[in-house]
Amino acid sequence: MVLGIETSCDETGVALYDSAKGLLAHALYSQVAMHADYGGVVPELASRDHIRRLLPLTQQILSETHLSIRDIGAIAYTEGPGLAGALLVGASAAHGMAYALGVPALGLHHLEGHLLSPLLSDPAPDFPFVALLVSGGHTQLMRVSGVGDYTLLGETLDDAAGEAFDKSAKLMGLGYPGGPAIARLAERGRAGRYKLPRPLLTSGDLNFSFSGLKTAVLLASKEKPLDDDTRADLAAEVQAAIVDVLVAKALAALEQTDLTRLVVAGGVGANRLLRHALTTRAEREGYTVYYPDLEFCTDNGAMIAFAGAKRLEQREAKDVLRFSVRPRWDLAELLPPSAGTV
Ligand code: KG4
Ligand code: ZN
Repeated sequence: MVLGIETSCDETGVALYDSAKGLLAHALYSQVAMHADYGGVVPELASRDHIRRLLPLTQQILSETHLSIRDIGAIAYTEGPGLAGALLVGASAAHGMAYALGVPALGLHHLEGHLLSPLLSDPAPDFPFVALLVSGGHTQLMRVSGVGDYTLLGETLDDAAGEAFDKSAKLMGLGYPGGPAIARLAERGRAGRYKLPRPLLTSGDLNFSFSGLKTAVLLASKEKPLDDDTRADLAAEVQAAIVDVLVAKALAALEQTDLTRLVVAGGVGANRLLRHALTTRAEREGYTVYYPDLEFCTDNGAMIAFAGAKRLEQREAKDVLRFSVRPRWDLAELLPPSAGTV
């Protein structure tokens, strides 16, 4: 049984995953309300809050499942990428507990957690598949051939899709996080009244670029002050522009790799228009799209516990008394298991 710990950003997530019985419990504390006043995540506040939440949340899932801390066989935590201080809280708690319990501790790549999170849902996709990873910090298309076997197909050259949502929302005077705020407002607006660019839509490769979008949003909102109606129209257009590009590139990736399964992971994967547009286009063209359950789209401990259980089958944990975090860590640096990853 693996205890999973996620503290890379503004959500404290914990979970218990049993390799025989599956996911036993998970709990999440979101700091969104605390950071909302500042319009974004304040790293120091995030670290301190992880310290306050992590052990009570762990105790909560243990008592929910009537298990004892002694039943834990291994601890998996997010080693990076993310906020250094926030990562250190999870890493040091994981190694402290692992040392006390005499069990291994394993540091994981946050995006690998997202990448494998659709495998927690039923039906789970078989390997190989194309993964569209769309979070606040990353936008990547990967070929996933197996656990630990990932090839980068394309990625953003500047802002991530979630960042484009967040920055546009900020410019429009909407709250943080911007993705859900724009999606909510877009329901009342109409796309097409404003005309925003679809960057790199026809570039032929699988890369993205979203930084021009926020400039266009800034210009649009400066041209004429936004009122309730125009703000909703602009929100609908921002969402449509991001979704159009993500759908086109994801389908191009399927075509170029000759794969038939697409997995969508990361916080932006919670977007309903994206899900609808992808599923419609993909089904028409004979592909199948898999999404993690909504609660596992954004940051959570379950994906880390699950990825930890899978990785422990492949590699040995390192010395429990030595650990580090990797605030910057490219997923492409994870070598396939056959290459002897440690
Ligand atoms: O994966 P995630 O929870 O954290 C990171 O690892 O970054 O992703 C957070 C991102 C934020 O940019 C947020 O605005 C976006 O996901 N997001 C959404 C939605 N829900 C969260 N974007 C669009 N529509 C949503 N419904
Ligand atoms: Zn994430």
